[in-house]
Amino acid sequence: MNKPDMSKQEAQEIERLRQKIRRHDTFYYIHNQPEISDREYDRLMQELKDLEVRHPEWVTPDSPTQRVGGKVADRFDTVAHKIPMLSLDNTYNVGELKEFRERVVKGLVDVSSDEIEYFVELKFDGLAVTLTYEDGIFVKGATRGDGKKGEDITANLKTIHSIPLNICAGKEKIKLMEVRGEVFMPRKSFQKLNEIRAATGETLFANPRNAAAGSLRLLDPSITASRKLDIFVYGVGFMDPMPFSTQYEVQSELEKMGFHTNSNRYLCGNFEEVLPWIETWEKKKDELEYDVDGLVIKVNSLDYQKKLGATSRFPRWSVAFKYEPEKGETRVENITCQVGRTGAITPVAVLTPVTISGSTVSRATLHNEDEIASKDIRIGDRVVVEKAGEIIPRVVEVIKSVGERRGPRFRMPSKCPECKESIYRSKDEAVLRCTNSVCPAQLRERLLHFASRDAMDIDHLGPAVIDQLVSKGGVKHFSDLYKLKLQDFVRLERLAEKSAQNLIGALEKSKSVGFARVLYAFGIRHVGQRAGMILARHFHSMNKLQKAEKEELEFVMEIGEAIAESVSTFFGQKSNRDEIARLAELGIEMEFKGEAMGDRLAGKQFVLTGSLKLFTRDEAKEKIAALGGRVMSTVSKKTDYVVVGVDPGSKADKAKTLDIPRVTEDEFKKMVEK
Ligand code: IVH
Repeated sequence: MNKPDMSKQEAQEIERLRQKIRRHDTFYYIHNQPEISDREYDRLMQELKDLEVRHPEWVTPDSPTQRVGGKVADRFDTVAHKIPMLSLDNTYNVGELKEFRERVVKGLVDVSSDEIEYFVELKFDGLAVTLTYEDGIFVKGATRGDGKKGEDITANLKTIHSIPLNICAGKEKIKLMEVRGEVFMPRKSFQKLNEIRAATGETLFANPRNAAAGSLRLLDPSITASRKLDIFVYGVGFMDPMPFSTQYEVQSELEKMGFHTNSNRYLCGNFEEVLPWIETWEKKKDELEYDVDGLVIKVNSLDYQKKLGATSRFPRWSVAFKYEPEKGETRVENITCQVGRTGAITPVAVLTPVTISGSTVSRATLHNEDEIASKDIRIGDRVVVEKAGEIIPRVVEVIKSVGERRGPRFRMPSKCPECKESIYRSKDEAVLRCTNSVCPAQLRERLLHFASRDAMDIDHLGPAVIDQLVSKGGVKHFSDLYKLKLQDFVRLERLAEKSAQNLIGALEKSKSVGFARVLYAFGIRHVGQRAGMILARHFHSMNKLQKAEKEELEFVMEIGEAIAESVSTFFGQKSNRDEIARLAELGIEMEFKGEAMGDRLAGKQFVLTGSLKLFTRDEAKEKIAALGGRVMSTVSKKTDYVVVGVDPGSKADKAKTLDIPRVTEDEFKKMVEK
């Protein structure tokens, strides 16, 4: 086959793969019903990536491979909204809602009140964004900002898989369209994110909305990509001509175009039908996987909406009905300070237990020094505490009564509450930190993370054991754990000999968890499990990684500036390098599995066809990659080997035509496992 023909075939293949991936994205991210396994999906994506590497001239901004890849910015550009992004007027009770209805009826003079339909939607508690599509391609996304101007966050929005990058693939093109929606972080992702942040010593987000907002405003899209954000699209800001006549139709058509809309939406023939939904959702909202703080009621007809118009801030055709978060009153018995893994000191209010939303609340986070000062929270105060959904309880306000005598203003400690060393506050953070790198509180948290299941997976090494090892076992570094003998453990309180033996076994086993996990276990800022894996795969060994310059780290796919920065800072510290040397000495494996075989297949291109019996496809790919080779999806003159499994496809025939060596699975095994 001659070259132009091959190229044509590859161009078609690229388009076919993109359409297939888009379809599976919709199944997975929008309908929550994947049709293929993750592995199969990754395979499609890899095939597309391979082809795009060979034909960079064909990479388009709407390709599924372009979700992460935006550059790290030093600021966001300002975007003027074509149509202002208004806010909604709030109502808190049925009386106020009825007043809204009166205003609507009055505004539509020649329409009888029972002809007015309403549309009820959930009010998602996230961040409003606008998405612009030109000729069906997603070109710009922005925050609401002040309503007139927002910030250009296109690169970050592209990382949200439920935002389609092309809405007209294979369909009639829409010239210009601006849709509006709410970006949010599902509660589970929020919890997980905070768990990781706690483990890596970063300050916690107070609620999913803050986490979503914080994630969207990161200058490095590769970090946004790891944040598991989602969107519900609820309206059209601009479309010319406007083909829809009702809000009901807007939502159904947006859904058909491939946008993620929310299925809890109701067309009400008249205003009376709206009211039962308020009661229904008051309780039901807590069962959702995302935060909802009320309902939004909209006049259904777009024609009536236009007639009603807007004030300078709110549309007259819509209103929000807000559920007040559940609150409780109690007393602050004490304020204590906790020291996290990186030394961050977080004040916590110890409360007289109070029941809110069915659970007992006895502690509330006070976030930081500034929060306590601005609310002037003191020991002994009566306070209002709020708990909505999964949110960590927080103190909303102090209940002050005239003439009441209060305790002194709360002052943050001037020394670390654990190790009594000095603490500091850097100028760009509200957080106080203990400066002592061997502070027992920090050490305890670091050891807990090190031993955790996804890290070194040291069974039986829980908080009770770690506390004692730190306070009386002389453990100062991770490496000290591996120097402990059976009798050191037996000496600890509440630890039977059997458990001590198990611990020794678990420690021994942990030595070979692999390089990627070791990297994660160190708790380097921003280095989660995925980054650990990417770095391990790329650099193969701790030796090479330690020597990598920041620029080299940034060059690694999916490693953004922030990760690169903290990794190079970490390895720049002598104390960390010394600790790594001690761990290596004690037998902790810090080489990527397979690396020992060197770069034997460097530059070699493989194609796999047919099903393999001895390896999964991913294993085969990993082995090739570990030896420096690459796996491509199509056979070409550049292919070095075609691995032929059972029931091979046309790729085996093509290899024969092009005279490319074909190897059986057994031969392949020998090649990679020698
Ligand atoms: S419509 C012109 N629908 O609530 C009216 N907004 O308080 C535009 N929101 O800025 C808003 N869910 O961020 C609409 N189903 C929904 C919504 C919703 C959440 C947010 C949106 C808006 C804010 C106003």
